[in-house]
Amino acid sequence: MIFGTISSRIISDLIINENSKYENIFNPSRIKPIAGFTSFVEENAVVAFDFIKDKLFKEKITSLHEINEGEAKVVKYEGDSYALYKEATGKVHLVKSTCPHAKCEVRWNSAELSWDCPCHGSRFNINGKILTGPSVMALQRVDPEDS
Ligand code: FES
Repeated sequence: MIFGTISSRIISDLIINENSKYENIFNPSRIKPIAGFTSFVEENAVVAFDFIKDKLFKEKITSLHEINEGEAKVVKYEGDSYALYKEATGKVHLVKSTCPHAKCEVRWNSAELSWDCPCHGSRFNINGKILTGPSVMALQRVDPEDS
């Protein structure tokens, strides 16, 4: 809606004054796709590499007791991938580690005590609840007693 209003203002200014103070800000040719192509390819190569690395290389555990208090890890357990956080009190928070948005694996953010998705920036709390999108679904919570 706001771009329609701005567009009409720019067109009006261009017709009446032959210039507009918003002309350069919204000029469609301000974006140089060729100039940014190299960094676009590099960034996506890094994302693809991380995606594959995170899917293939996970620490395998046989028991939740292998995780220390205050520690968080993405682990493989009985064929599934979990994001596991164990509080200093020993309470375990267990969620599936695959981001519902595009299936990347989340990583622990020790500064925020959150699970962050490296692909598009979704963030989840220790119980998988969404803190920020683009994901619109939470991480699947798992009862540690069931695993
Ligand atoms: S895959 Fe996680 S935010 Fe897109």
